[in-house]
Amino acid sequence: MSIDYSEKVIKHFFNPQNMGKMEDPDGVGTAGNIACGDEMTICIKVKGAAGDDRENDVVEDVRFETLGCAAAIATSSMVTELAKGKTIKEAKQISLKDVAGELGGLPPIKMHCSNMAADALHKAIEDYLQKSK
Ligand code: FES
Repeated sequence: MSIDYSEKVIKHFFNPQNMGKMEDPDGVGTAGNIACGDEMTICIKVKGAAGDDRENDVVEDVRFETLGCAAAIATSSMVTELAKGKTIKEAKQISLKDVAGELGGLPPIKMHCSNMAADALHKAIEDYLQKSK
């Protein structure tokens, strides 16, 4: 059975953005897919804004490492692009729907693979907020 991926999914799969390790990340989040056992880790570097409200801090850099299928790689790549340059408040609101939408949609059978991207990002942000208390 072949799966119909959008052009954007294929582009991000063959040319993933922001893939690889990050030295000294400010936040790390890992999410897994229990259906297939695949896993994704997202690391963020954050620039603190003035004041006590960490929601205004800016996600300066994002990196991912993903063990997964084409949909998992493409959604990892896309979530890093969406989060880069956003405030913590904005990045927290990035959803699975946003990621899939930016990729021109995902085949229904692959939607579960894309859950990991937004989950891992949200966990990395939580980790950052915990550490910066
Ligand atoms: Fe495992 Fe897609 S099949 S993430």
